[in-house]
Amino acid sequence: MQLAIIGTGYVGLVTGTCFAETGNNVVCIDIDQRKIESLKQGKTPIYEPGLDVLLERNIKERRLQFTTSITEGIADARVIFLALPTPPGKDGSADLQYVLQVADDLSKIITKYTVIVNKSTVPVGTAEKVAAVLAQRLDRSLYDVVSNPEFLREGVAVDDFLKPDRVVIGSSSEKARKVMDELYQPFVRQGNPIYFMDERSSEMTKYAANSYLAMRISFMNEMANLCEKAGANVDWVRIGMGADSRIGKRFLFPGIGYGGSCFPKDVKALAHTAMEMDYDYKLVNVVMHVNDLQKKILGGKVRNYFGSDLSGLTFAVWGLSFKPETDDIRDAPALDLIEELTGAGAKLRVFDPEGMNNVRQLMGDKVHYAEDQYDALEGASALIIVTEWSEFRNPDFDRIASILVHPAIFDGRNVYSMEKMQTLGFYYESIGRKV
Ligand code: UGA
Repeated sequence: MQLAIIGTGYVGLVTGTCFAETGNNVVCIDIDQRKIESLKQGKTPIYEPGLDVLLERNIKERRLQFTTSITEGIADARVIFLALPTPPGKDGSADLQYVLQVADDLSKIITKYTVIVNKSTVPVGTAEKVAAVLAQRLDRSLYDVVSNPEFLREGVAVDDFLKPDRVVIGSSSEKARKVMDELYQPFVRQGNPIYFMDERSSEMTKYAANSYLAMRISFMNEMANLCEKAGANVDWVRIGMGADSRIGKRFLFPGIGYGGSCFPKDVKALAHTAMEMDYDYKLVNVVMHVNDLQKKILGGKVRNYFGSDLSGLTFAVWGLSFKPETDDIRDAPALDLIEELTGAGAKLRVFDPEGMNNVRQLMGDKVHYAEDQYDALEGASALIIVTEWSEFRNPDFDRIASILVHPAIFDGRNVYSMEKMQTLGFYYESIGRKV
């Protein structure tokens, strides 16, 4: 099938590449000339495992093309995906200006029946808004607008796209449903479902899923804080409760708050949608509040131990990206921690396998960028673990102890076992496990 993807950000690029991988002809469109030029050379602007290989292959086999021209890019497209940014506005609502502008552009150039798909995370009612923009110039027989939210996770996005738990399609048009079904069949061969529903339910499903997952994290973060006070170990509590099949064992890991480009933005947008509809969604507001507090937990532990004035002290920070296997630092808890500790006078030596450049661009010389994880330890009074990259899981502890001024580890992700830390003689604090 001939497809066009407008917007080559994270979702657009993965979507375009994976559809090309299943044999479709895909044109990815973006206004950013430099990005398009480098994508044409097979260079991805994001770090996402597995994406570069698929990109290269599909470019070589001419199934995947890139352009800055919408008119050229959509010329033969049967389906156009909108994968545009929907950043939070000042009031927390998702800003639809890019989506609606592109809909307006499309209304001037579409000449035959096309399915327009909202792939971006957009508030309930957006499919209707896009349809209304198209209706200003186009005959109703020339388009259908479909909601098709994306559930991929950064770091495993290619796998999530190729083998989704489910595909959600919101459309009231039988014709559009058939096209979408044909497109997604190759991805659900293992029996995972494609759910067809109305547009509004589909749009809401995305916010419901992300907000529910964020709620699980906030619940576990508060449970961890309580476990510390009660002398319980949250690792055991997590295992014990997760074994109940109604709860499930995934996504119950406490830490230092959720971050990234999705949860913070989507939970806020859901709260805003509820408010607009005159509904006070209390739980969603609490989820955000708990997360804000949790981002301060690790810095608080460090300051409890070393004192609130950290002048003259240096700390090593391992991990900056909001989670492993990505260079994404949007809303990363590491940023809050850096602000807090440097604000208290501390010097920081930071290391992250992929996120260093992004932090450098944002924070400049506020921190020292170490050569590697051990270089970060030089002159440090303690090691602070912020992101659970695999390479931090089994480091050379003797080397750590010999470099650190003080053998202390503050672990925001419960990467190490308490027993091991005790045996090795580290002062060790983690989340939800008593010292
Ligand atoms: C999230 C959802 O998981 C995807 O399904 C969704 O498609 C995506 O948002 C999106 O809307 O685009 P992502 O933001 O890539 O994906 O990352 P997650 O793996 O969900 O992690 C989000 C945050 O929660 C991270 O900061 C992570 O450290 C934290 N987390 C996750 C925990 O603190 N505990 C856990 O048990 C799991």
